[in-house]
Amino acid sequence: MRTPVLLLLTLCVLLQTGDCRFLESFADKVVGTFVNKTTKIKQFVEEKGRSLKHFYNDNLYKVKVLLGKQNATEAPKLNVTDEQTRVFNANRRFLDFVNDAAAKNESIYDSIQLSDQNDYKCTEDDPANHMSTPQLIALHGYAAESHTVVTEDGYILTLHRIPHGKKANPKVASRKTVLLHHGLLGSSADWILTGPEKGLSYILAEAGYDVWMANARGNTYSRAHVSKKVDSYEFWNFTWHDISQFDLPATIDYIMELKDDKDVKIDYIGHSMGTTVLFALLSTKTEYNKVLRAGYALAPVAYMSDIRSPIRIIARFANNIEYLLKLLGGYEFLPQNVVLRWLSEHACEINHYEEVICENSLFVLCGHDEKQFNRTLLPIILGHVPAGASTKTLVHYAQEIRAGGSFQQFDFGKKGNIKEYGQETPPKYNIRNVKLPMALLSADNDWLASSIDVTTLAAQLPNLIDHYVVPLNEFNHIDFLYAIDAPKLVYNKLLQLLEEQFDNSIWSVNQMMD
Ligand SMILES: *[C@@H]1O[C@H](CO)[C@@H](O)[C@H](O)[C@H]1NC(C)=O
Ligand SMILES: *[C@@H]1O[C@H](CO)[C@@H](O)[C@H](O)[C@H]1NC(C)=O
Ligand SMILES: *[C@@H]1O[C@H](CO)[C@@H](O)[C@H](O)[C@H]1NC(C)=O
Ligand SMILES: *[C@@H]1O[C@H](CO)[C@@H](O)[C@H](O)[C@H]1NC(C)=O
Ligand SMILES: *[C@@H]1O[C@H](CO)[C@@H](O)[C@H](O)[C@H]1NC(C)=O
Repeated sequence: MRTPVLLLLTLCVLLQTGDCRFLESFADKVVGTFVNKTTKIKQFVEEKGRSLKHFYNDNLYKVKVLLGKQNATEAPKLNVTDEQTRVFNANRRFLDFVNDAAAKNESIYDSIQLSDQNDYKCTEDDPANHMSTPQLIALHGYAAESHTVVTEDGYILTLHRIPHGKKANPKVASRKTVLLHHGLLGSSADWILTGPEKGLSYILAEAGYDVWMANARGNTYSRAHVSKKVDSYEFWNFTWHDISQFDLPATIDYIMELKDDKDVKIDYIGHSMGTTVLFALLSTKTEYNKVLRAGYALAPVAYMSDIRSPIRIIARFANNIEYLLKLLGGYEFLPQNVVLRWLSEHACEINHYEEVICENSLFVLCGHDEKQFNRTLLPIILGHVPAGASTKTLVHYAQEIRAGGSFQQFDFGKKGNIKEYGQETPPKYNIRNVKLPMALLSADNDWLASSIDVTTLAAQLPNLIDHYVVPLNEFNHIDFLYAIDAPKLVYNKLLQLLEEQFDNSIWSVNQMMD
């Protein structure tokens, strides 16, 4: 069920009120109303014989029109302050709309008329849009493998693999081994959706790498547990800290065991949350600094002091976890995707104010630089993203933002922290422990991994190989995956760094032997 309008309403109202006592007393009501309205919307849409997807899309368009964004293309380029004002005014206008509807005794979903005009051209009939990662890989003529890994705490993960390039001899195992880790909302599909010419996994396979793609607990491919039911809160009671402590070690150990070659070291490439979990792993379980060869962080997220994404909205409520989890649907299973989708969409509309493409997207997937977004890919991307994540993961990020950007473990509140950590505040991750050679690849227009925060990170990493800033102003967070020029602007550099590190490590092994 997709109910962005109501979430928008709920969050806007909360945003305007900002009074926590009010929030607490209204928490139950809000959740109750939300559930009721969700049901009503679904019935309403189904009665009209329309698909929820189209309803969602049409309504998003209308909401944006209501927010006065329809002529955003004509607007001059805004600086941050102007834009904040605009965003604030937009929220204000939406609230006026809500009040107006209330005054007329209308429900918000009645006020937004359904339109027969459908400008969302989704070629839903293309089966590739709904194929799994290995199916897509096979479709393009590559060898595809799926591996199952069970973590120490019982989560059942699926690892995907392209063991070699098209022309390589399959009997000769490549020593060059790379593990790719997706970001928040993502999955192994992130690395292949742009096809064999542009997908990073294919490019790496052709460059002689044995390519492994991780899937974190909770996403489409890793939604199982040895004892916990997937629709229970127990299953979803995790954050990216748990991914770093359990999923990553299990995944890395599995690959090392399977390769069974003491000369093999793994190169790790992460995007967004895929970098957060690497930093969290290497600063706590420091032995993994020796298991990997080097780390490559695309759009690195550790410190979060300068966040322009609307995930900030959630951060305001991060000191009231109980309430937040309830509001975000932490006690249910799939509904959290509604929130993630909403957030993605909201990030999109504020991030990419000027862009018509946002009107057409269900989720976040539009580059700020419209020129870098290949619209042909929209249906297949929408078929795979968001792949799912826990609400608690988002809350964890929100807590960091609220704590001034500090890279720290989950905050359970004073009492909870004492029980969990033996101290009142959550422990901070020590970046100085990340001894692994690390390369950071960032972009100035990244609203999640800002240049301020990435620069702080770069300064603290003891073994920084390179900090590469993508030479295109408009390049943003998701462009690392889907941009038309990602190969030219990012992957070429990445390959060059990988090769240098590989040569260096071979050279130092030989040195030691001499
Ligand atoms: C939601 O609907 C149920 C059943 O129709 C009703 O009992 C409950 O009071 C409603 N909750 C809210 C907050 O409107
Ligand atoms: C949109 O355009 C109309 C007419 O061109 C103008 O009156 C209105 O103020 C514009 N709205 C915004 C938000 O720019
Ligand atoms: C608003 O609608 C409710 C039922 O939907 C009705 O009982 C009430 O009288 C209406 N109020 C006004 C002011 O029209
Ligand atoms: C959720 O996880 C925390 C520790 O991460 C634990 O203390 C708590 O008991 C768990 N709650 C449930 C309901 O599993
Ligand atoms: C956009 O994606 C389609 C489908 O993968 C591809 O055929 C086309 O070449 C891409 N266009 C550009 C400009 O990269």
